[in-house]
Amino acid sequence: MIDFDGVAKAFDGRAVVQDFNLHVADGAFCALIGASGSGKSTILRMMNRLIEPDAGRIRFAGQDVADLDPTLLRRRMGYVIQSAGLFPHWSVARNIAAVPALLGWDRARTQARVAELMTLLRLDPALGRARPHELSGGQAQRVGVARALAADPDVLLMDEPFGALDPITRAALQAELARIHRETRKTIVFVTHDMDEALQLATQVVVLEDGRVLQDTSPADLLAHPANAGVGAFVGRLDRGLKLLSLLAITERLEPGADGPEVPDDIDCRSALSRMIELSVDRLTVVDVTGQVRGHVALAGLMRS
Ligand SMILES: Nc1ncnc2c1ncn2[C@@H]1O[C@H](COP(=O)(O)OP(=O)(O)OP(=O)(O)O)[C@@H](O)[C@H]1O
Ligand SMILES: [Mg+2]
Repeated sequence: MIDFDGVAKAFDGRAVVQDFNLHVADGAFCALIGASGSGKSTILRMMNRLIEPDAGRIRFAGQDVADLDPTLLRRRMGYVIQSAGLFPHWSVARNIAAVPALLGWDRARTQARVAELMTLLRLDPALGRARPHELSGGQAQRVGVARALAADPDVLLMDEPFGALDPITRAALQAELARIHRETRKTIVFVTHDMDEALQLATQVVVLEDGRVLQDTSPADLLAHPANAGVGAFVGRLDRGLKLLSLLAITERLEPGADGPEVPDDIDCRSALSRMIELSVDRLTVVDVTGQVRGHVALAGLMRS
């Protein structure tokens, strides 16, 4: 879907992105992670031509983006920034409808799409008439994501969309985004500082340092085989085992029969371990939403991970 081939960018004679190569497959959820100033936003903004590279080539669905009209390109790539970037004097509904309006959609189609997106992002329909300053940070972020999705773009570019939110709102929006990715299969490129967020959401994690790729792999491989000490420091040394457990669904360690206190079947193995510690048990019965027993997990089974 998106390919960078030997891309370089300098600002004021200082190299910010160097010999950068990246392949983001159709339907992937790619997280770009690295320290402040490592070039993450610059890379994202080169995808939709807010910034032009000095060298190399960027292709989108096989076409060189330099040959594509920037306005048309941006309509195919929804863009979400940290502050949500909503138009302050427009209602929520009008903000969400910004791109459909540019595309000349009629009123009925636009209204239907706004309603559909507000449902998808779990925004109360009554908020449609609110102004951005009347929203909480989490609601404003949801509106920003809805706006980016409005004209059904092929790609969603997200630059630290949840950075400024409290941990509970953030976790809720992460879950929404994971659901949207599952349901729409959109290609997502997501910039973050937060390794836990990257590991939890992404199918591909790209670790950057000084505008270069340190490692580009799956979350599980990144944790199991950090390419060097720099990546190792980024993934965290002491809790790497716990992070690996968090990538594993409890259903992947099921053993037959009920044994121990009940937990739902949609949690990860790290949460299961936490529950065992909390209850001082080494076995948990796993049940589905209807309360049906699916089996049990044992501490020894989790340790095998
Ligand atoms: N328009 C610009 N003009 C001059 N320098 C710039 C410009 N945009 C970015 N830079 C510089 O390029 C470097 C990389 O910036 P970039 O915004 O890509 O980093 P980042 O990884 O997104 O950082 P952060 O995590 O802080 O958002 C920084 O040193 C920044 O100061
Ligand atoms: Mg940035």
